[in-house]
Amino acid sequence: MLLEEPLETLRKSLGTARIVAFTGAGISAESGIPTFRGPNGLWKSYSPEKLATLEAFSRDPRLVWEWYDWRRQIIHQAQPNSGHRALAEIERRAAGRFTLVTQNVDGLHDRAGSRSVVKLHGDIWRVRCTGCQAEEPNEQVPLAPLPPLCRCGALLRPAVVWFGEALPEGAWERAHEAAARAEVFLVIGTSAMVYPAAGLVQIACHSGARVAIVNPDPTPADEFADWILRGPAGEILARLL
Ligand code: OAD
Repeated sequence: MLLEEPLETLRKSLGTARIVAFTGAGISAESGIPTFRGPNGLWKSYSPEKLATLEAFSRDPRLVWEWYDWRRQIIHQAQPNSGHRALAEIERRAAGRFTLVTQNVDGLHDRAGSRSVVKLHGDIWRVRCTGCQAEEPNEQVPLAPLPPLCRCGALLRPAVVWFGEALPEGAWERAHEAAARAEVFLVIGTSAMVYPAAGLVQIACHSGARVAIVNPDPTPADEFADWILRGPAGEILARLL
């Protein structure tokens, strides 16, 4: 098979290396969760760039919450797939030398058993008050009322990062440090177009890591790659193990 040789060399390189896995929406695609870009990423006729902003929320909080509520319902019904499980297993085998950095807010890495997860874009299962700033878990599916309100009376928002907002305190520092120390950097299921997250690939590469891409389609990060494994993450990561 075409993939066997790169899979074998990548497998060997994981043996004693410091590893970072950097994931995006594509790793959850096989769990039935739509990715952001591409035809299935659209909700009604809105692109994520039109909904995942403070401006959109200020203009129409109900519309933005309806989108998040729709996504929460899909994620609630979804199960982690073999890609999520493979990363949890790699973490167990590489105890202490593995960091998982994800752009996903769906929580499927946690549900698959990953422990060391840096969430760059927040968590769809948490809410934050736009008034008193209190943040708490919220797993109500479907959400009612929409938009939800805090005890203090102000609007709640999803505790996720929107376009133009800073990444959660500490998360970027942890991700940056892990990328700069990585010896093998796995880029899995991301279009590598949203910054600053996508910049981790360059940081890792320029710091000497070898980079592997797992994606059925080309991405701008491919130019940094030592390995390009074309195909669905669930299948490829399961074979990697
Ligand atoms: P995208 O939707 O931009 O990209 C998904 C990537 O997954 C694409 O490159 C697909 O080719 C790939 N893909 C699809 N199916 C796959 C599979 N089965 N296995 C592996 N890869 C597959 O999602 P992200 O890169 O995660 O940010 O997007 C980055 C950020 O943009 C998100 O975190 C979100 C979004 O707007 C915020 O909300 C701030």
